[in-house]
Amino acid sequence: MALYLVTGGAGFIGSALVHELLNRCEQVRVVDNFFTGKRENLADVWNRIDFRELDITELEPLRPAFESVDYVLHQAALPSVPRSVEDPITSNRVNIDGTLNVLVAARDAKVKRLVYAASSSAYGDTPTLPKHEQMLTAPISPYGVTKLVGELYANVFTTVYGLETVCLRYFNVFGPRQDPSSPYSGVLSKFISSLLDGQAPTIYGDGQQSRDFTFVQDTVEANLLACKAPDASGKTFNIATGERKTLLNSFQLLHRLIVPDGTRIEPEYAPARAGDILHSQADITLARQVLGYESKVSFEEGLRRTVEWYRSQTPALFSAG
Ligand code: UD1
Repeated sequence: MALYLVTGGAGFIGSALVHELLNRCEQVRVVDNFFTGKRENLADVWNRIDFRELDITELEPLRPAFESVDYVLHQAALPSVPRSVEDPITSNRVNIDGTLNVLVAARDAKVKRLVYAASSSAYGDTPTLPKHEQMLTAPISPYGVTKLVGELYANVFTTVYGLETVCLRYFNVFGPRQDPSSPYSGVLSKFISSLLDGQAPTIYGDGQQSRDFTFVQDTVEANLLACKAPDASGKTFNIATGERKTLLNSFQLLHRLIVPDGTRIEPEYAPARAGDILHSQADITLARQVLGYESKVSFEEGLRRTVEWYRSQTPALFSAG
């Protein structure tokens, strides 16, 4: 049994990691400040974890949370491209200063390895698809810059201080516990909650933009593999499915899953968002080779499981299915 520290452990991906670690009988400590994370995400496991309400932007109070830790899964961050366009300073403070604090605390506590939640947004909008890790990075949003700087810091902590780090570039993760209620929420969570309420979701742009939507359980598996894989330290890996779906196609699949026959909900269209990337798709060869990672949950299956979860949570109009 090892001790894992999950930063951002009350968030969408962090709480999925916490649940899986507990399933595997590991010891779990969680750091979260509930800025975007939620107590409800951990309600069923509250008495099985060592929870610390802390903000990663303050180093000294953070240090004790790293004592005796074997592995750090650093998920705490302020997500969202549009949020970072509106307020780059706060995204910078949490994602860059916060990550630097986490790296310093992990280094000083001599943890075995730190896995960093990096982002596909590092690639920017270059036309080559799929994206592979040797490509030049060219973020086009403040969010992309912040997540890339975190990677650079992680790499430097490996070369300069000998702290083992692994960076996982997530590609548009979706699944249960993703919060649909903010204007900054991930697109699939917004589509699902709108359709369940019988409302028209908004599509920014023409809906032909595409993403390598990844079910959260795949991302969780990748983190756990990254903790132990022998040749992974100092490296960056794409974590995705290797396929891409357009927003319109995703909307149609969800419509079929949620809206009863005979009813039709049309999306509303709004101008494309600043900092938005057109197409995103990963090459996952390196993760396969070095981590032994495979994407195990298809897009359609992931959508089914996600819709089922939202239905179980809300008294939605179309909850009877
Ligand atoms: C980006 C990153 C992703 C990261 C996420 C964190 C890329 C390719 N992906 O996601 O790795 O995890 O930031 O926030 O850079 N949209 C709508 N209607 C909505 C909401 C969104 O049409 O109600 C559109 C957006 O304009 C965009 C797409 O859906 O074209 C996806 O948006 P979103 O889910 O916010 O994720 P990304 O910005 O792609």
